[in-house]
Amino acid sequence: MKKRYYFDHNATTPVRPEVLDAMLPYLTEKYGNASSVHSFGRDARHAMEKSREIVATLINADPEEIYFTGCGTESDNIALTGTMTSARDGKNRLITSKVEHSAIMNTAAKLKHDGFQITYIGVDEYCRTDINQLKNVIDNNTALVSIMHGNNETGVLQNIEEAAKIAHSAGAVFHTDAVQSAGKIPIDVKKMGIDMLSMSGHKLNAPKGIGVLYIKKGLKITPLTYGGSHERGIRPGTENVAGIVALAKAVDLAMQDMENEAVTISALRDRLESEIEHVVSNVLFNGRGVPRLPGTSNISFPGVDGEALLFSMDIEGVAASTGSACTTGEVEPSHVLVAMGREPKTAQSSLRFSMGWGTTDAGVDHILNRLPVVLNRLRSISGGI
Ligand SMILES: Cc1ncc(COP(=O)(O)O)c(C=O)c1O
Repeated sequence: MKKRYYFDHNATTPVRPEVLDAMLPYLTEKYGNASSVHSFGRDARHAMEKSREIVATLINADPEEIYFTGCGTESDNIALTGTMTSARDGKNRLITSKVEHSAIMNTAAKLKHDGFQITYIGVDEYCRTDINQLKNVIDNNTALVSIMHGNNETGVLQNIEEAAKIAHSAGAVFHTDAVQSAGKIPIDVKKMGIDMLSMSGHKLNAPKGIGVLYIKKGLKITPLTYGGSHERGIRPGTENVAGIVALAKAVDLAMQDMENEAVTISALRDRLESEIEHVVSNVLFNGRGVPRLPGTSNISFPGVDGEALLFSMDIEGVAASTGSACTTGEVEPSHVLVAMGREPKTAQSSLRFSMGWGTTDAGVDHILNRLPVVLNRLRSISGGI
């Protein structure tokens, strides 16, 4: 079979063998319900609470501040809706950014529909949130500020420490969507002033179906669903013990490898970008030159259609991504690139290559070898440059 190279780690990641080994017993012989009082249940609960401690260590939280959920999207929904619907003193405003993931964007849209006031902060041409705008628009009516940590499309890191300070100065709660950054770069919720943080297992080499919401001690939020007392009522439903154990193992490995991986993966990304500049004409790098996640590269190739480029590279054995969304049958340009000031047509000519555990120089070489050929062909068909 033809060799395939995976450059879509921001979409999802492979489960590491150590993670699979750690979780398997919780699907086979240790299948107890963590709420049961017998020994099967106690084994499951013990594993779950041990895992909570490990996850807490990653972000310098206390274990009782960690709530397991089903995914990053669910964590974002609980954080936003749970805070807004329990906001005190009649506060009804949520401030977020224009470059958030749809898990935030569409939750904010629903809250708007329900009568809350939503304000979107813009970004500069490097995808950095406009902190001055945040300072200017925040007021005493603001219940919550939610600004993502690492952008999923460009990898650009937001100044969340500053955003948290501004939120607190107006008495608002600060949430960050750290689904792309957790496990890749250091996070300290105490030092950074984060009140709530979302994470997702499948972005850091654990399986799909496990997420985390960190909620600072003392913060009161309304749950979205009702049932038993699991996760202290914030996320009722029998816990996914195998997923939780897997996540803790992945977090453990991430903590051991973070520094080295960041160096290795950034070097691969930098080589990809600097060599693309040599082998391809007319390229624009999105978010290059400012602090970014180690493995995300977002590049516009004016004159080609991003979707056509994506499919052509897939045929060549390279799995990448476009930030475009398909709505009502039309391919919409990425809202992130448009917010950065890219023309819609340029935004639609972009590809994201995202790297992580398992990415090698061989993959980068393969892209550098095939991309110029594919681009030349597509540009000649479209009459582009
Ligand atoms: C920044 C960001 N937030 C939230 C999510 C949603 O996470 P999940 O797939 O676990 O629901 C993603 C997934 O791509 C993401 O990149």
